[in-house]
Amino acid sequence: MEGYEKLGYMALNVSDVARSRDFYHKQVGLQPSGEAEGIAFLRCSEDHHNLSLHAGGPPGLKRAGFEMKSAAALDQLGARLAAEGIAVSEVPADERKLLGLGRAFRIAEPHTGATYEFYDHMRQWGGQPFQPTVAKIQRLGHFVLKVPDFDGACRFHTEVLGFRVSDMIDGTICFMRCHPNPYHHGVGLGRANEVLLHHVNFMVTEVDDIGRGISRFNKAQVPIVNGPGRHPPSGSMFLYYLDPDGITVEYSFGMEEFPAEGARKPRVMEPIKASIDYWDSFLDPRKATVGAIERIAAE
Ligand SMILES: [Fe+2]
Repeated sequence: MEGYEKLGYMALNVSDVARSRDFYHKQVGLQPSGEAEGIAFLRCSEDHHNLSLHAGGPPGLKRAGFEMKSAAALDQLGARLAAEGIAVSEVPADERKLLGLGRAFRIAEPHTGATYEFYDHMRQWGGQPFQPTVAKIQRLGHFVLKVPDFDGACRFHTEVLGFRVSDMIDGTICFMRCHPNPYHHGVGLGRANEVLLHHVNFMVTEVDDIGRGISRFNKAQVPIVNGPGRHPPSGSMFLYYLDPDGITVEYSFGMEEFPAEGARKPRVMEPIKASIDYWDSFLDPRKATVGAIERIAAE
């Protein structure tokens, strides 16, 4: 399978779109890229958007959008999902226009109920490069979901969606890359008693982005809930903080890249705290506690 270009965008439900747009703009450092029908769009690349903020519903994940390598890759994935008996629903033309998408379809991931959207391309925003402000954001990095049926969800993401495992914390966390996208993980799954969005990650360019983030968040009373620390699996330095609804957002700096072919095999790490953070950094219990997953109504 030709596979994935990248994790393209995250759609979040928030309780106050204007307040959250202001936060993701001024604190996180994304650039607003339009507003329509009550949705606020922000970007950290050439794309029309990499984050969309929606009113209504408990705060959390509305959906995750994945950009495929090509229209053929989108077709291949669609055929594979249909063969597995997964309901695939085309995104209507008016909604694709609103979102700047080419051809696109959605599924409900069977183990979390999370809506995943797959598209062949997204329109660029205004033909202008992303202008970093408070942080040199490189890209939308990844998201992590909590899921009770951890093994089933890992199987679905690898065997059906075609993601590849980069590393595992034995029996508890699975980090997967959107092959052939090289970054260590675009999606993570964590074993838990509930289904929840654990966090959304943005990758930054330099260690100063982490340090300046700490100062900026402290001044603005943005709660830092974990870090700064360092993840052994990916080698990245991290900082977790809360958005206005309490959704956990992460900055990370540095991440292993994998070749499309001949990549190292996944490592399996001990399920202990040192496998998550070898700096043993500060951890606030509010981390990863807000993040309802919106379920699309069955058609
Ligand atoms: Fe992360």
